[in-house]
Amino acid sequence: MAARGGALAGMRSVLGRAFGRQTSGIVAVDIGSTSVKILEVRGPADAPELLRAGMAALPEGALQNNTVADTVAVAEVIRTLLADLGIKGRLAVTAVPGPSVIIKKASVHLKADEDLETLLMVEAQHFIPENLDNVSLDYHVLRHDAEEVEVLIVAVRRDILQGFMNALAGAGLDPVIVDVDYFALENMFELNYESGPDDIVVLIDIGARFSSINVLRGGVSSTTGDVQAGGGEILDSLTSALGVSADEAERLLGGGAADPDLRERADATIARGVVELADAIDQSLRFLWRTVSDDPLQMIYVTGGAARIHGLREALATRLGVSVESVNPFARMKIGSEIDPATLEEMASALGVAAGLATRRVERL
Ligand SMILES: Nc1ncnc2c1ncn2[C@@H]1O[C@H](COP(=O)(O)OP(=O)(O)OP(=O)(O)O)[C@@H](O)[C@H]1O
Ligand SMILES: [Mg+2]
Repeated sequence: MAARGGALAGMRSVLGRAFGRQTSGIVAVDIGSTSVKILEVRGPADAPELLRAGMAALPEGALQNNTVADTVAVAEVIRTLLADLGIKGRLAVTAVPGPSVIIKKASVHLKADEDLETLLMVEAQHFIPENLDNVSLDYHVLRHDAEEVEVLIVAVRRDILQGFMNALAGAGLDPVIVDVDYFALENMFELNYESGPDDIVVLIDIGARFSSINVLRGGVSSTTGDVQAGGGEILDSLTSALGVSADEAERLLGGGAADPDLRERADATIARGVVELADAIDQSLRFLWRTVSDDPLQMIYVTGGAARIHGLREALATRLGVSVESVNPFARMKIGSEIDPATLEEMASALGVAAGLATRRVERL
């Protein structure tokens, strides 16, 4: 799944864990259905410095069904944003959306004379509904006891992967790692937060069209899943019910001031949307959490552009009876002198995936 060919080639690189420790000049690109987010960082992965940060809207339909539908348009938005931010680095890390991948935990018996990758190919045939020639695979060893190996196998269709890589290449970038947004979020969390060995916390990235849920035990992902719902529906209902522009609807979504009548009507529309979105997330989250443990949740951390929607965190906290906090993806990052702290704070919620990508360990190429 990395920028190298071959059936299982690059398997380890998708999770980035077999790489060295340099992150110098790494450009993280999170391509969402409504916008592209870009960060540039340098320095070691455990003490990175943020040099530049920005986001730019994508034209409607450029990303569809988790696939880059218009490579030229996406590449152009990335190229312009890189130029606007003055980013010169070319080594790039990006992620495919969670719903586009199949993730499976598997246990295999590995005898001394057997090759793990060959065994995993056989294992993968059982759960991947595609010809393996059309799929790119990666794995991460979770546990290795005697002959028993527990692995996480990650599979994505090659054409989906290629679409994201082509968009980066079209913008003049060199895609060295393609990650999955769940793992990027986990990486971001690991850098910024600590949790006890048995703590169960949930990370939710609430985007425009979908929300990804990552249940962590002791800071390590136990299970992931997604909900086909995000803030996009609420934004759309605001523009259609109130006849306001998308920019104005975004401002209203964040609780921005408006004339009292407009504010009141916006609040009623937002409140209805929040109930639906919180219900959908609540349902999937409970299911995923119960597959991991009967223990209570310690905390829910939210990120994603829609995590800022007025009342959403409160609605989730009430339903699940647990504190819901906004993630600060930059809590432990050194912030470079060219970054305006107020602008970064405004964007921070949308930059969780990008921050996780930016701190991937990348070998010097
Ligand atoms: N100022 C704001 N205040 C509150 N919510 C906002 C604001 N601006 C945007 N949003 C919400 O955030 C959503 C976009 O979130 P985000 O940028 O995470 O999505 P995306 O990454 O483009 O999409 P996806 O990951 O679902 O493909 C919008 O649909 C809207 O609901
Ligand atoms: Mg997103």
